[in-house]
Amino acid sequence: MTTHITNIRMHAAFLAVAGALSLQACGGATAAPTTETGSTPTQFVNAETQIDAGRYLVKIGGCNDCHTPGYVEKLMMTGEAMPESDWLKGADIGFSGPWGVSYPSNLRLSFQNMDEAQFIEMARKGQGRPPMPWPSLQAMSDQDLSAIYAYVHSLGAAGDPAPAALSPGAAPDRPHIAFVPQAPAAQAAK
Ligand code: HEC
Repeated sequence: MTTHITNIRMHAAFLAVAGALSLQACGGATAAPTTETGSTPTQFVNAETQIDAGRYLVKIGGCNDCHTPGYVEKLMMTGEAMPESDWLKGADIGFSGPWGVSYPSNLRLSFQNMDEAQFIEMARKGQGRPPMPWPSLQAMSDQDLSAIYAYVHSLGAAGDPAPAALSPGAAPDRPHIAFVPQAPAAQAAK
């Protein structure tokens, strides 16, 4: 499948102005200049369709790197992309660290089990375990999160649920990647 993303534009300038105007319209007492800090981001990707925007965001957001086992390896070693029908099915190799062990969720199932508003709320709160890049989702505008939702939801349910996360100290029963700083050999030998 060939993907044509055309017409991707940032509407930041326009929206910043619109935002400032609406603040004034609402009688914002001091009419402070709008900043991104602490407010919902207003930049978004504009593609031909919302699904195209979602696919683009998933690709550049690196979501496949963790949620699609073998995705990076196949692309880097063979130059061939994994078929979209296999994307985002989750992984059973976990990441261990001070948070316990987390497993990249099967997003094909997750997105069938929540609606768009629930996904946006989850992204805004960003209270899951590392190494899921929650700050990246938090930094996305509602429009971009809606596009991701529309896209992943459109892929439909597939695959099995990822294993449940383990609490700190619990022993994993399968291979996992340790996200713990390792001392260089010279220091370790001392
Ligand atoms: C570095 C690895 C990594 C990357 C990259 C990554 N994720 Fe995750 N993701 C995880 C892990 C691990 C979890 C499980 C977190 C937990 O157990 O709390 C997760 C959980 C989630 C969840 C919660 C699912 C549920 O049912 O609770 C969503 C939604 C999600 N990721 C979306 C995304 C999206 C969208 C992207 C791309 C923008 C992305 N992830 C990129 C590792 C990653």
